[in-house]
Amino acid sequence: MIVTIDGVAASGKSSVSSGVAQALGVPYVSSGLLYRAVTLLGLNAGADLADAATLLPLLSGVRLEPLASGNRVWNAGADLTADLHSTRVDAGVSTVAAIPQIRQWVDDQLRALPAPLVAEGRDMGTNVFPYAQHKFYLTASPRVRAERRAKERPEDIPAIEAALTERDRQDTTQSAPAPDARVIDTGPLTLQGVIDTILEHLR
Ligand code: ADP
Ligand code: CDP
Repeated sequence: MIVTIDGVAASGKSSVSSGVAQALGVPYVSSGLLYRAVTLLGLNAGADLADAATLLPLLSGVRLEPLASGNRVWNAGADLTADLHSTRVDAGVSTVAAIPQIRQWVDDQLRALPAPLVAEGRDMGTNVFPYAQHKFYLTASPRVRAERRAKERPEDIPAIEAALTERDRQDTTQSAPAPDARVIDTGPLTLQGVIDTILEHLR
């Protein structure tokens, strides 16, 4: 069984996927963390984030560890996870995610994982696992998402909202909900409420 949970930036995908996966006793995978890892390595190397030829050699040591409690990303034995949610990675990641060869590499990593699993990102239900049995798409208003993310970033809410809206715009191509996805507005719900809504649909 594969469950896909896609959605816009900071809509709750990782937290909800972790909760659903733990309730089901299966791993979850965060595709965004792989795009973030390539972005971090590119920034650290001083690379042009739109230049596939410079970025592709950086991928060889990157490995995703899909723990149900929280995914980790390693590069040649070093744990990158704590550095993947910075404002500079947020600002660069959509440029990296627009490179077809990088998307193919992420897709290959995910498709190599054994089911059952919960997969979250933008195009899990449309592109990576179109045959998934259960698909969800999370939304919330930009302001609600910015208020949530403000607890995890140093910037103020209007700056975070502007950055989220810009990232949504840059991610439009890969962010359409699958036609067979159930759309959930997480705005009026608690985190546990979203997890319970999904678990009810799975029963
Ligand atoms: P994403 O993976 O889509 O970026 P996250 O899982 O990082 O989203 O969620 C962003 C923040 O929103 C987290 O701190 C999460 O706990 C919080 N949050 C608060 N309320 C909700 C809710 N109703 N649904 C989902 N996430 C919520
Ligand atoms: O958690 P948040 O929604 O802020 O970001 P994320 O899920 O970690 O994704 C980071 C970025 O990776 C997105 O803004 C997209 O540019 C890209 N991404 C993508 O293109 N396709 C995916 N399946 C997942 C992420």
